Amino acid sequence: MTPPATTDKGSEFEAERVSAAVPNETTGGVGGASVTVLPPEPVHGLDVDNNSDADSAVDGVEDFSSTASVRSSVYDYIEENGRRYHRFKEGQYLLPNDESEQERLDIQHNLMLLALDGKLHVAPIENMPGGLHNVLDIATGTGNWAIDFANAYPTTSVVGTDLSPIQPEYLPPNCRFEIDDAEDDWLFPVPFDYIHGRALITCFRSHHTVFTHAFNSLRSGGYLELQDCDLPLRFIDDSGNGTALGTWSQRLMAGGAALGKDLTRGRRYKEILEEIGFVDVVEKRTQFPIGTWAMGRKNKTLGAWMRHDMLTGLQAMSMAIMTRGLGMASEEVDGHLVDVNAEIESNRVHAYYSIVLVYARKP
Ligand SMILES: C[S@@+](CC[C@H](N)C(=O)[O-])C[C@H]1O[C@@H](n2cnc3c(N)ncnc32)[C@H](O)[C@@H]1O
Repeated sequence: MTPPATTDKGSEFEAERVSAAVPNETTGGVGGASVTVLPPEPVHGLDVDNNSDADSAVDGVEDFSSTASVRSSVYDYIEENGRRYHRFKEGQYLLPNDESEQERLDIQHNLMLLALDGKLHVAPIENMPGGLHNVLDIATGTGNWAIDFANAYPTTSVVGTDLSPIQPEYLPPNCRFEIDDAEDDWLFPVPFDYIHGRALITCFRSHHTVFTHAFNSLRSGGYLELQDCDLPLRFIDDSGNGTALGTWSQRLMAGGAALGKDLTRGRRYKEILEEIGFVDVVEKRTQFPIGTWAMGRKNKTLGAWMRHDMLTGLQAMSMAIMTRGLGMASEEVDGHLVDVNAEIESNRVHAYYSIVLVYARKP
């Protein structure tokens, strides 16, 4: 699926890093674990549209409600609280791998493409010295990015790895998938020219370990690129005060922390890559509003898709993290999500995800 074309320039992906410093960071406790509350970062082109109301029907902006998807058959899995999770390395990843989660990943792929004006990467890999022959997509999910990349670069060999076998069967000839734990030692026979990893914050106990594996598996001059969100959710104004959405974001981080996953790690990616020995490390930022409350056609389209992503994905994101991590009963989680849903649908809470895009070169 191709993201809708937009003409609005006000909210375009920013060429420069908007904000790295996190002023006035505060911490508190939720469910026994420490959480972080962030003020809004300086944003570019994300202003509240005072004319927007609870309804998302903005002229020409599609309220995303279904995604066509072709899925491979179910392999091995476990079930918990009505959701399906991976069996290989059971319990390691906290989100489900069922059809509805796969659909959410497809939506996120399109969201990121829309945000990046159709680009699959921001690293300067076009015409790179030495050429672009071997590419790896870590934790590929449904493999959308890897398949699109393989189609866009037909002479490049693309491999995607994941804990879950949820990738489609019919692939471009230069694309393949392997079931693999990225935290284990990497045994790829050839060095990569470019390694890509998107939406990884919920994945690893140690991102440092995985990015070190990437460093060791790149050729000299090769690039690593990471595209992720920087939790917690932020609010452009005080509409987030005392909201269920704010509590949800804090509970998510606290539950992740209790399970050994630091969901705030996105903002440290640049620093981690520098520690490992990468050079020319560049961080860029963009924002995904949740809902159509922000001015500008592109923001409204992103926001409509992000809202759909949240409304269909809240349970997937929350259930295991809050039941396993915070000891909440599944009914309690569902009750909390009813309030979060209502706030998202109201369009009155001006929340957004800060998206971090980092790329770096192996010297
Ligand atoms: C949020 S999804 C992102 C998928 C994909 N990168 C995208 O952007 O659409 C995270 C994926 O990471 C996979 N994953 C989690 N931990 C992993 C690990 N240790 N090794 C490999 N894959 C992992 C999950 O199975 C899931 O498919």
